[in-house]
Amino acid sequence: MDPITMKLTFSLALTLLAANVLGGCQRATPDKTPGMAARVSQATYGRMPDGVQVDGYTLRNSKGTTMQVITYGAIITSLRTVDAQGEFADIVLGFDSLDGYLHDPPYFGAVVGRYANRIAKGRFTLDGHEYQLPVNNGPNSLHGGTRGFDKVVWQATSFENDSSSGVVLSYTSSDGEMGYPGRLDVRVTYTLTDGNEVVVDYFATTDKATPINLSQHSYFNLAGDAKRDILGHQLRLAASRYTPVDSTLIPTGELASVEGTPFDFRTLTPIGARIGESNQQLTFGIGYDHNFVLDRETSGLSHAAQVVEPESGRVLDIFTDQPGIQFYSGNFLDGTITGKGGRVYQHRYGFCLETQHFPDSPNHAEFPTTILRPGEEYKSRTVFRFGSN
Ligand code: BGC
Repeated sequence: MDPITMKLTFSLALTLLAANVLGGCQRATPDKTPGMAARVSQATYGRMPDGVQVDGYTLRNSKGTTMQVITYGAIITSLRTVDAQGEFADIVLGFDSLDGYLHDPPYFGAVVGRYANRIAKGRFTLDGHEYQLPVNNGPNSLHGGTRGFDKVVWQATSFENDSSSGVVLSYTSSDGEMGYPGRLDVRVTYTLTDGNEVVVDYFATTDKATPINLSQHSYFNLAGDAKRDILGHQLRLAASRYTPVDSTLIPTGELASVEGTPFDFRTLTPIGARIGESNQQLTFGIGYDHNFVLDRETSGLSHAAQVVEPESGRVLDIFTDQPGIQFYSGNFLDGTITGKGGRVYQHRYGFCLETQHFPDSPNHAEFPTTILRPGEEYKSRTVFRFGSN
């Protein structure tokens, strides 16, 4: 384990231990830190067309970072972090109210599932049964189908302790929902720590074998308040290989070397440096929309990505225990969505780094398995750490 990962793992262990020990309080509790407002507050965020209430939780840490999460889609609606000049700004795309999220935006801030990313033709065979999922992206099923986990209302409770606060979101996906087998009980915990980390913990159990692949689909723009495109952001990925795709963005099965290609982000490189090169994979993705195979020495949390925005000085580091990360350069943003504060989300005004298993794994026996069986526990963690240079 490298020293950064070891330090991070240790501080997380302490934070989570504290959360478990002290976190018996499952509701926002009065402030215990002198001079600091309560770490968690809750308010009604809106109502679904059928009247179901959607709640919003605002988390704050001792550094002034704030994050809002809503129970619709387990969406992170805002994340305000500090830049090198000490100015706070919102670094995720989204809307000012529930209405925007109900008009089918491209998964802004949501937890995607039951299967993040694509399943070819929405079809897979498991234990001799063939399953058909709704097809919602060309010929394929994307992010769990037409009504994935991004479009349902989750149950939530909050917690706080001396160094962090968080929200635990739960959802039960019924047997057969969106074509998937088995009742799946899912829990996602967001923890905002005083170390400026957003820790995302996923947990699930099932009563029938099912594919599962959960991910967080925030669109980041570290310049703050989506004021320019993300092509000047510098990206580093701990990946010597990626999974090339066909024209519908389904992996061919090959794990190709990034060496000598525009997919080599092993050293910090501006996202826009090679995005316009003539390359069949970039043509298929209309830019970057590919899963990278993470280089890892251990099975635990390891450093997957770093993004630096040179003008603001903001830095994002991502740690995960997952085998892959989808880097999507916001290619389908085209100026037709107006988001928070009236900002128009133009082409490539946000990027996603979705920690996950490889796309279409249920149809690729050679990829790490995504099948969860009764009696097993699906557990996964990703950490987003925010800083500035
Ligand atoms: C996919 C993109 C898709 C985007 C929004 C990403 O995870 O890889 O192809 O356009 O989600 O739907």
